[in-house]
Amino acid sequence: MTQEAVTLLQNKRIVLAVTGSIAAYKAADLASKLTQAGALVDVILTQAAEHFVTALTFQSVTGRPVYTNLWQNDSSGALPTHIAHVGLAESADLLMVAPATANTLAKLAHGLADDLLSVTALAARCPLIVAPAMDGSMYQHAATQANVSTLRQRGVTIIEPETGRFASGLVGQGRLPDTAALIGHIRVALGHGGILAGKKVIVTAGGTREAIDPVRFITNRSSGKQGYALAQAALDAGAAVTLVTASDLPAPVGAQVISVSSAEHMQQVVLDHLATADALMMAAAVADFRPQTRAAQKIKKQDDSDDAPVIVLSRTPDILMSVKEKRAALGHPKVVVGFAAESEHLLSHARAKLERKGLDLLIANDITAPDAGFEVDTNRVVILGADGSQTPLALATKTRIAEAIIERVAGLLP
Ligand code: CTP
Repeated sequence: MTQEAVTLLQNKRIVLAVTGSIAAYKAADLASKLTQAGALVDVILTQAAEHFVTALTFQSVTGRPVYTNLWQNDSSGALPTHIAHVGLAESADLLMVAPATANTLAKLAHGLADDLLSVTALAARCPLIVAPAMDGSMYQHAATQANVSTLRQRGVTIIEPETGRFASGLVGQGRLPDTAALIGHIRVALGHGGILAGKKVIVTAGGTREAIDPVRFITNRSSGKQGYALAQAALDAGAAVTLVTASDLPAPVGAQVISVSSAEHMQQVVLDHLATADALMMAAAVADFRPQTRAAQKIKKQDDSDDAPVIVLSRTPDILMSVKEKRAALGHPKVVVGFAAESEHLLSHARAKLERKGLDLLIANDITAPDAGFEVDTNRVVILGADGSQTPLALATKTRIAEAIIERVAGLLP
């Protein structure tokens, strides 16, 4: 899968240091995806890493020189100065060590400076992310754990390795997380200080599931993609994000994810988190109706009859209406955003909804357009403001739409 361009990563200088772990080959995918996303990736290979992977691999996927030697000046002109470790450290937005061996963790924790990576790490003043990967017993060793906690105390982000099967056949904690997770951590680090820094936002996503019996439910075609894109855009902008979701999409790194099922369940979680939230974005497709009763046991068909059960529906709570009631007393959230999926009279229906639900912004989309709305990766929306404004956005990916919404939300927050 190719990586979509990531606004936050455009022209960011990421120094990716690869060390001599068997997981080194996975760093080539990371370097490739970061480059596709728009970052400028400068790779350092330690001597041990060169036993597993070659400089040519990384040069090929990044289109930039690869650095392996502390004792050689850089003549490529790709760095701000010809002294490689100074040039790599200077103006880097982020230094990432992935995978990091036990030896490299020890060197970083103790400030050793005997190769290009360790010297660059001392010279750098940008955020440092370290992703250890090694055999489980090496990772659990008291010496390694002490080094990890020294680095953490110093403000380094440590990405906990995953538990699973090693090349040795043993099972334990020490596997490098996948590329998407590593990029998620990079986004959190680079998002610090963004336009939503210090703000708490709640995003809801997905179609709620209203139970008929223990195995059956009624739901809708919402995939959750627009809500997840909003959560990611809010993270990229530096917000603390609570994602209340009825979707099974992979969780964005850095978000507090709360999985819910029904409209009632979603309402309870949203209201519980309201008092401290700066913004609420209700991207979820909340069911308007649910079965009036939920059968305690699976409903069985009768073998001797063609009869089918009649399911009586009743209304679900309107979450945004209950937020409207609580908001005045709480003084939170400061900004509430709703969504409207309309199939006719888009703007007039949407404006009425904004007013009825007491919203600051309403994102209206015409679900009859084939390239917008449910399931697809693109959307065509109009942003309506409580101030009477009406801003149509051109057809764009849900990621770009989310970024535009986040910018509007940030502009409304004090
Ligand atoms: N919403 C909600 N609680 C519900 C239903 C919807 O909070 N029980 C929220 C949705 O998350 C969305 C907005 O309200 O932000 C959509 O409003 P709604 O009136 O439900 O719009 P539609 O589903 O488009 O409904 P209708 O066609 O009935 O106008």
